[in-house]
Amino acid sequence: MQHYFSEKQTSALNLKKINARLRGRLFEFYTGSGVFSSKRVDKGSELLVNSAIINEGRVLDMGCGIGIVGIVIAKCFPDILVVMTDINKRAVKLAKRNVKLNNIDNAEARQGNLFEKVNEDEKFNAILINPPQKAGKKLCFEMIDKSYDYMLEKGTLQIVGRHQKGGKELSKRMETVFGNVKDVAKKSGYRVYVSEK
Ligand SMILES: C[S@@+](CC[C@H](N)C(=O)[O-])C[C@H]1O[C@@H](n2cnc3c(N)ncnc32)[C@H](O)[C@@H]1O
Repeated sequence: MQHYFSEKQTSALNLKKINARLRGRLFEFYTGSGVFSSKRVDKGSELLVNSAIINEGRVLDMGCGIGIVGIVIAKCFPDILVVMTDINKRAVKLAKRNVKLNNIDNAEARQGNLFEKVNEDEKFNAILINPPQKAGKKLCFEMIDKSYDYMLEKGTLQIVGRHQKGGKELSKRMETVFGNVKDVAKKSGYRVYVSEK
C-alpha cells in the first residue's frame, strides 16, 4: 500500500496548483496525488511556517514534501540557505519545480531517507519538521534524535504536531534529547514545539 511517505508513487500525478498566503505573502505550489498537501496547504505546515524562528545561517526542512515550509522560509529570509529533503521521489520533484515557480535561489531539494543526503559536516541553525506522524512514532523519534547531531550549538529544532494525537509524545522526546522544550504556537489542535541545543 502506498502512502504520502512512500519512496515511489505509481498513481497518476494529477498535477495542479494550489496557493496560500504564508508569512503575509502569497505563494503558489505545484502539487498532485501521492504527496502530502495534495489538495491544500496543511494547517500544521501553515502554523509551523508562520511561527518559525529564523535568525541566521542554514535551515533544514526535514520531510519537506512539495517544499512549502522551506520555500516560504527561503523567500522571506533571502540571506538564509535552505536545504530540503524527503524520501518521496515525487514530492522532491515537485519541491524542485516549486523552487523555480517561486523564483527561489537560496533553497535546494534532495531526495533521500532521513539525513542520508545531508553531509555529516553540514550543520544547521534551525531544523523545521512537520513530521510524518502517520508513518509511526519510531520514525518521528528518529528524526528528533538525529536532528541533534546535525544542529549547531544554540540551534533550534522546531516541530509541529497535533498535541492530542501524538504531538505531546514528540515534545516529550524533544525534551529528553535536548534537555528543554517549549510551546511557541497553538492553533486548531496543532502546536509548535521548540528545543534549543
Ligand atoms: C507531514 S508531511 C510534511 C510535508 C511538508 N513538510 C509540509 O509541511 O507540507 C511529512 C513528510 O515526511 C516525509 N518522510 C516520511 N518518511 C521520511 C523519511 N524516512 N525520510 C525523509 N522524509 C520522510 C514524507 O514523505 C512527507 O513528505
